[in-house]
Amino acid sequence: MKDLITSVINHGQGVEDEAVDKNVFKDCSKIAFYRRQKQLLSKKSTYRALLDSVTPGEDSARFQIINEPAKVPLLAEVCGIEGNIFRLKINEEIPLKPRYEVPDVLTSKLTTVRLTSCPGDTGSLVLASGKGDLKCHITANPFKVDLVSEEEVVMSINSLGQLYFEQLQIPPKQRATKKNEEDASIDTTQENQEELGLWEEKFENFVDVKVNGPASIGLDFSLHGFEHLYGIPQHAESHQLKNTSDSDAYRLYNLDVYGYKIHDKMGIYGSVPYLLAHKLGRTLGIFWLNASETLVEIKTEPAVKYTLTQTGPVAAKQKVGSRTDVHWMSESGIIDVFLLTGPTPSDVFKQYSYLTGTQAMPPLFSLGYHQCRWNYEDEQDVKAVDAGFDEHDIPYDVMWLDIEHTEGKRYFTWDKKRFPNPKRMQDLLRSKKRKLVVISDPHVKVDPNYSVYAKAKEQGFFVRNHEGGDFEGVCWPGLSSYLDFTNPKVRKWYSSLFAFSVYQGSTDILHIWNDMNEPSVFKGPEQTMQKNAIHHGNWEHRELHNIYGFYQQMATTEGLIQRSKGKERPFVLTRSFFAGSQKYGAVWTGDNTAEWSHLKISIPMLLTLSVTGISFCGADVGGFIGDPEAELLVRWYQAGAYQPFFRGHATMNTKRREPWLFGEEHTRLIREAIRERYTLLPYWYSLFYSAHVASQPVMRPLWVEFPNELETFSVEDEYMLGGALLVHPVTEPKATVVDVFLPGSSEIWYDSKTFAHWKGACTVKIPVTLDAIPVFQRGGSVVPIKTTIGRSTGFMTNSPYGLRVALSTKGSAMGEFYLDDGHSFQYLHQKQFLHRKFSFSSGVLTNSCADERGHYPSKCVVEQILVLGLKKQPSSVTAHSADGSAQPVAFTYHATTSTLKLETLSLNIGADWKVRVQ
Ligand code: NOJ
Repeated sequence: MKDLITSVINHGQGVEDEAVDKNVFKDCSKIAFYRRQKQLLSKKSTYRALLDSVTPGEDSARFQIINEPAKVPLLAEVCGIEGNIFRLKINEEIPLKPRYEVPDVLTSKLTTVRLTSCPGDTGSLVLASGKGDLKCHITANPFKVDLVSEEEVVMSINSLGQLYFEQLQIPPKQRATKKNEEDASIDTTQENQEELGLWEEKFENFVDVKVNGPASIGLDFSLHGFEHLYGIPQHAESHQLKNTSDSDAYRLYNLDVYGYKIHDKMGIYGSVPYLLAHKLGRTLGIFWLNASETLVEIKTEPAVKYTLTQTGPVAAKQKVGSRTDVHWMSESGIIDVFLLTGPTPSDVFKQYSYLTGTQAMPPLFSLGYHQCRWNYEDEQDVKAVDAGFDEHDIPYDVMWLDIEHTEGKRYFTWDKKRFPNPKRMQDLLRSKKRKLVVISDPHVKVDPNYSVYAKAKEQGFFVRNHEGGDFEGVCWPGLSSYLDFTNPKVRKWYSSLFAFSVYQGSTDILHIWNDMNEPSVFKGPEQTMQKNAIHHGNWEHRELHNIYGFYQQMATTEGLIQRSKGKERPFVLTRSFFAGSQKYGAVWTGDNTAEWSHLKISIPMLLTLSVTGISFCGADVGGFIGDPEAELLVRWYQAGAYQPFFRGHATMNTKRREPWLFGEEHTRLIREAIRERYTLLPYWYSLFYSAHVASQPVMRPLWVEFPNELETFSVEDEYMLGGALLVHPVTEPKATVVDVFLPGSSEIWYDSKTFAHWKGACTVKIPVTLDAIPVFQRGGSVVPIKTTIGRSTGFMTNSPYGLRVALSTKGSAMGEFYLDDGHSFQYLHQKQFLHRKFSFSSGVLTNSCADERGHYPSKCVVEQILVLGLKKQPSSVTAHSADGSAQPVAFTYHATTSTLKLETLSLNIGADWKVRVQ
């Protein structure tokens, strides 16, 4: 028992300043399937495809592939999917037992396209999709697939011969005859057993007994002409993927890593086995649909040097010879890989969301500021903190309660002493138009008197251990069992627990936070569940480890939707995630530390999540572990205000750090940062709508917006928020100046505070004081804002709008605006929304409808218009409504900054009108 308590305490309480103990986690050398693939691939036996066996199918081509020693054929299947996507599946033709194929990730609507076979050389098969500009060229011997677009080979598969497939075998003990042993695809001589970890693998004091034996798979992809790769979150690493030749591979294995080390490739919290490759003229994606432990090696062939001053067409500057090889390896499952052929970044985003879904449309409140702490002690504390925001005139939307709000970490309950009247507390928050988020973890305290436990136990809803009993491990409540969210029945039941009648003390302003769902098991191997634990359908945990958290968020989200009878949009934050988690809510980067380096790495970490579909992401503001000094905290608020999920959070035993505790000046600076967030809410909301319907990330690396500018490909200290704002957070202490790269030779950029402007394609030194957040508006854009800030988003529904119009070098600008009720699904079912387009050209700003299907009456007016980059003082400004009436408008013009300000307008945001500047 003492051990158990120590373990609980050590996890985050009292060791908050310690760096992660890496010995608790495996590096590649300690992973048996990695060692096997390395060892056995070196004794290469190539595969060949039996293309004669191609059966012309409706929408896929199937053929056998075989390697000589094994002689047992694998079955390959190539199919075309709508939107220029190819899918390659490789499985055993007749496996000893079925191998795990990841369910529930792909959206159900996938439409396949017919592949036509074209004449190829003998020994090859050419499959063309669509109009024939995309081809899959399959070579028989050795087996290789080339993806050809417009006659250019953009990707080759298995050209390095790293196709690896361990066929399921009868366990040695059951093998009756010598013959069986000979048939085994892997050499099982005794001395090699330990090293290869075929049936048993040791790590620290843990022994992983593998009833199914070795089952790992692997495949290589060569990306021709590509040197820039991104994706495969989550790692505390740079946005651009690094060469792994001299380091460990990127590991995708969801783990609870408290105070993770930065610039490291170890797996943390969540996994999206999907990467993007980008070069001038093309973006590609590789989505490796596998939920078992996965490793990814990246090797970029040194590119031939070029210089920007080199003459010749741009495309020729990138040497044809450059290439990046990607080697995927997974512990089990099948090879099921999607090739997203772009060609633009925006196309790849659409292709990926076609497969896995788009970002859920968040309720508006969740884009405001969230205040969290482990823990807000009691109702009184909540009341005081809530009042503190009002006293200091700082807007905020959501109060959070961590695990201590429960009765002994029994989720769905309340600690009666601390929170005797949860409804009263929520009424208080509701009166301020604010919300509450409480935590609900996947572990359930072993306690027959706890109804959640008793019911789950009775119905067999827990993950089982390999002996058949309920799996038990240690987490916050002490001994716990873990709900098996992979079982649809468990999900349905779990969802029902959020019904208002079931979840006592919950109201409609209560939303949910799923934590520890890697799952975290304190005394387990690598602090997680044993791989031989058993899930629904008799699948071992190893098959689906990386998707466990995904399922919890799925069930929680469905529960919140159901409790409102399908009417209200939920907010659910999860720590663990997988491909497709974007459909269910938001993700954060877990237990970071209050250090400048962690503030800095939050940018590339969030950019990586963003390009892999997860737009609603954030990092704990202030750093979870440790005590930030005032300057760091201010800088973190300033950065967080421009990141999608904006939450302050701190661990136990850290000093209180509500925004007003660092002296008046720092309070002012934090207030300003949060207010900037609220000012920009209409822009944020419109960006989320675009993520939701058009798959475009909210937070975008520069290369996404400037795909033809090589200089942008490695930038990760600044980024675009949508297409209009460039943000360069200050992440260094005592900074007096920051170097801001402004991309695009034909662009013009405006400082959003001083309105000073620069031509693009240069780096400018921007002087900064502690109140500066370097943000630049791109010429050619219109950004909608709120001109009055309320105490929370709820108070701002009717407040007026402003438009920031930044003119391009040609004197024009465009922008969009989206509005709905901010909380329900009526935008979807009843088309109750407003989608407007603002365009400025030839001196006329026009507000017109961007989507005729939507209707949403709004009384809100555009009160201010700011035009940046207007070179000449106008002689008159007039507002014209749709009925033809025109009214003169008062204006001020500043010649020094070339800005025009209209401040007394009253133009309905949802109506057609024009403002003419002459
Ligand atoms: C770990 C989470 O990452 C952290 O945010 C939370 O405060 C603790 N668990 C306690 O619930």
